[in-house]
Amino acid sequence: MSEMNPSELETRAKAAQQKAYAPYSKFKVGATLRSSGQLFDGANIENASYSMTICAERAAMVAAVLADARELEEVVVFTDAWPPSSPCGACRQFLSEFAADATKVKVTAINARGERRSWTLAELLPDSFSGRELP
Ligand code: THU
Repeated sequence: MSEMNPSELETRAKAAQQKAYAPYSKFKVGATLRSSGQLFDGANIENASYSMTICAERAAMVAAVLADARELEEVVVFTDAWPPSSPCGACRQFLSEFAADATKVKVTAINARGERRSWTLAELLPDSFSGRELP
């Protein structure tokens, strides 16, 4: 874990966290990703029917796809957790769909203390299932 100046993605992910709708868990998550060279923000949006909840990372990726920006390059996730929490398994799979090379997609988790943890998407989801497996 290290502390240094925030990148534009980090600043936006922190701002996106404020948009979270998390009345049940109270765990607010902001995510910003770069896809096809553009930045997209997301936040978790919960539902009284809990399993309908959408994570911040998936919300951001949906925004990117809707803007025709399908080539995922980098992801930043902002939470109040310490150590900074990494994307859930479902989000790892969802993001992988749009990673041409998951070994080149950097995922950084940060928190309000300025702590950071980084991985590649391939490290977070090794041997992932992909469309290449399908007939
Ligand atoms: N959550 C995310 O938004 N991203 C993750 O990677 C982990 C979990 C949200 C879902 C739910 O609203 C809350 O955090 C607690 O699980």
